[in-house]
Amino acid sequence: MAATGTTASGESAYYVTTPIYYVNDAPHLGHAYTTVAGDVLTRWHRQRGEKVWYLTGTDEHGQKVMRTAEANGVTPQEWCDKLVEDAWKPLWEHLQIANDDFIRTTEPRHTDRVQEFVQDLYEKGEIYKGGYEGPYCVACEEYKSPGDLLEGDLCPIHKRPVEWLKEENYFFRLSAYGERLLEFYERNPDFIRPASARNEVVSFVKQGLQDLSISRSTFDWGVPIPWDTKHVIYVWIDALLNYATAVGYGSDQEKFDATWPANIHLVGKDILRFHAVIWPAMLMANGLSLPRGVFANGWLMVGGEKMSKSNLTGISPRELTEHFGVDAYRYYFLRAIPFGQDGSFSWEDFSARYTSELANDFGNLASRVAAMVGKYFGGTLPEATDAGPAEQAIADGLAAAAAQADTLIGDNLDFSAGIGAIFEFVKQVNGYLSDQAPWKVAKDDSPEGQARLATILYTAAESLRAIAVLLHPVMPGTSAKLWASLGAEPHLGALADQRIADVATWGGLPAGAQVVKGEILFPRLENA
Ligand code: MSP
Repeated sequence: MAATGTTASGESAYYVTTPIYYVNDAPHLGHAYTTVAGDVLTRWHRQRGEKVWYLTGTDEHGQKVMRTAEANGVTPQEWCDKLVEDAWKPLWEHLQIANDDFIRTTEPRHTDRVQEFVQDLYEKGEIYKGGYEGPYCVACEEYKSPGDLLEGDLCPIHKRPVEWLKEENYFFRLSAYGERLLEFYERNPDFIRPASARNEVVSFVKQGLQDLSISRSTFDWGVPIPWDTKHVIYVWIDALLNYATAVGYGSDQEKFDATWPANIHLVGKDILRFHAVIWPAMLMANGLSLPRGVFANGWLMVGGEKMSKSNLTGISPRELTEHFGVDAYRYYFLRAIPFGQDGSFSWEDFSARYTSELANDFGNLASRVAAMVGKYFGGTLPEATDAGPAEQAIADGLAAAAAQADTLIGDNLDFSAGIGAIFEFVKQVNGYLSDQAPWKVAKDDSPEGQARLATILYTAAESLRAIAVLLHPVMPGTSAKLWASLGAEPHLGALADQRIADVATWGGLPAGAQVVKGEILFPRLENA
């Protein structure tokens, strides 16, 4: 059975991709940002019970990678192998990224199909030979319009000098696709999100598209043009095709049908046009169906500039996870920055959110409830026999939070507001405990007092059951600890098998569950 079988209804998998990253260097915070977002999104859909496919990988051809390898005295392939195995894959594992596949553009499963794709377009007359000259930014791997350059002929994104290139190239008839693209955007208003990104693309296409140079002959680190092997295929054409080749395009039709089209291509805003203009045009030219959506996230900024390897001021993802832990890292960037907008990172803000939201609001709630079930009921979850309006308000709060989070995270990719909705519920449960003051009620030995105490603690523990499920996509390790502490697994099964649709059905955690005080979920920060 292919891992991506069709769902019961025969629908294709919910297929999400990250950009494939250049391996000229190790991953930084900006790369991890998109990859974590995709991981949370796909985990959320898995938790909905959907069939999911999550793809990431590396973009290994082109001048940028070639020059880096040369500067390090190794072949490009050696360089890529080393970086992928020593830096990229280990970081994704460390960050608990549950990708289903990892594509490398130097793999034959990719390169062979890229050649076939280009050959097919050539035979259809979509590719022709011509000449081109213009300013080229190697960091972008893109020809620039002279009018877009900054003073001193600098790339507007990288602020580095462009190079003047003159080549005889093969061209793709991109200019012929403007009208069809505009019609497509019109018919599919959610194809490009957020709205600001969509507007930018629409006005760009309305200005008129130029044919695209799709081959290079001044260097050879790339996939050869099959009918003219002095040329290699432009790295972006090669790279975009990864989304199709990785799911069986041209090699495994069953898998391809069960996965393609992609539901969401997650991209940084700087590479939006490649995904929202060139890629759909390539697919139209070849007769393949188009992806259902492209979502452009903003940039992580340092000192007002896009964070990049050169201006990272020494912060690496691992440095942050060492200090805050992996789950807090996953939480922080998605909670602090509305997805689609730029955002800045600061140690102070991260520390403040860690302490107030994670350690105080969430971690303390979990440990207090487990401690009280231990102290007053020997660790056996009591039955709620005295539920009244206060408990009903909690059940209602949960239903509202779950519904909001499901739409916000699962459909809108509004991670910040979705996580916010879950944390509103965490706050509500904290408020409930302060109001009900079980530590005071415990002093009343009467049967009524004990029934009240049991009801309060049941209500809090049952709320934590739901919180563990809702936060599992965001903080898988923490949720697993909480699930274990609630003694949920013997009664309800594995955390990953809990469904979002059922999470607000009150009473899931049965009386009798063995609650233990687990590890502290968010230890106090050192040097905080
Ligand atoms: N290889 C191409 C993508 C090909 S996809 C078919 C590429 N690679 S990249 O490594 O340069 O960048 C990959 C992604 O990282 C882009 O989406 C880019 O926006 C993102 N980021 C790089 N720096 C970033 C920030 N400082 N903040 C957020 N994302 C950033 O482009």
